[in-house]
Amino acid sequence: MLADKGNHRHFMLKEIYEQPEVIGHTLGHYLSFNNLQVNLPESGGLDFAKIDRINMTACGTAYYAGLTSKYWFEGLARLPVDIDIASEFRYREAPLSKDGLSLFISQSGETADTLAGLKYCEEQGQHLAAVVNVRESTIARASHSVFPTLAGPEIGVASTKAFTCQLSTLASLAVAAGVQRGHIDREREKQLVRDLSEAPRYANEVLHLEDTIAKLAHRLANKQHVLYLGRDTNFPLAMEGALKLKELSYIHAEGYAAGELKHGPIALVDENMPIVVIAPHDRIFEKTVSNMQEVAARGGQIILITDPKGAEAVGMDEAEIIVMPEMPEIITPIIYALPIQMLAYHTAVHMGTDVDQPRNLAKSVTVE
Ligand code: G6P
Repeated sequence: MLADKGNHRHFMLKEIYEQPEVIGHTLGHYLSFNNLQVNLPESGGLDFAKIDRINMTACGTAYYAGLTSKYWFEGLARLPVDIDIASEFRYREAPLSKDGLSLFISQSGETADTLAGLKYCEEQGQHLAAVVNVRESTIARASHSVFPTLAGPEIGVASTKAFTCQLSTLASLAVAAGVQRGHIDREREKQLVRDLSEAPRYANEVLHLEDTIAKLAHRLANKQHVLYLGRDTNFPLAMEGALKLKELSYIHAEGYAAGELKHGPIALVDENMPIVVIAPHDRIFEKTVSNMQEVAARGGQIILITDPKGAEAVGMDEAEIIVMPEMPEIITPIIYALPIQMLAYHTAVHMGTDVDQPRNLAKSVTVE
């Protein structure tokens, strides 16, 4: 079947709009919404209670999905996670735990460096698990446990729906791990499944912010540099946002942990530097506000992505605010990915770059 853009101008926009549906399909594969339980089909006998460590390997956007899930696995399941970029991991000769799980995240399931990392772990006798979008792929076939993302074919070179489906899968796995390891009781499991099940509805709601975001994208277009800041699970999302902007609009962008601002990037801040801050009103929101004040004092132009409570609490006239709905904490990185994607998309459209086929990039990198 030939891929079709439907009524959308680009595959990327079509794929952004498919997210409520494909996030729902993916979550439905792992969660039973009737009895509010998490299930792991095709887990290949994997028992998280017998695992003492996960080592994750991935490239590009898939790496940022993995890094987000480190916070979930460690917080919800008290399971330590080491995560590496595949091109580093494959040559690093990492010592692996005897009872460890090696987890590979890949949309295509064919990325050469990720596959080389898998071969290394196979030689070390690890249990191999894969989060993949292509079920017949080499990485899926080589793994003992396969956790599919049900994003459907992704055509746009810059990943969108595969990313949010990877996050949906990894969040479900982390909840399953928490249950199996006895850190999540039945009531908490029910609540987390309810929270995750809300993701498609919120994804749909935030798509309505597209016009607002398209207008704000003018502020990024033709800039030399853009800084993205976030804390906790929004730190990997800040890096993913910077990656999307670089890939699509060729503007230099960096994603930083907001707390690291003072250790370097603050030196770059002036009135020509837009700063995108991803900060739902959570337990560390106030910390991020003080980072924003430091930026504002140096003339940096802030675009803040937050919720109504955050917008009220921030009290800064200098910031442009994208107001997201208030939502359960576990789904924030999934849903906040959408405005990040739309911001990069519309910046690229303003600049007239080739959104679906950015220069020098390939959808799947099967050579080293
Ligand atoms: C390429 C693509 C990215 C993708 C990365 C990893 O760089 O342009 O969008 O995140 O490869 O690909 P994978 O198929 O392993 O997820």
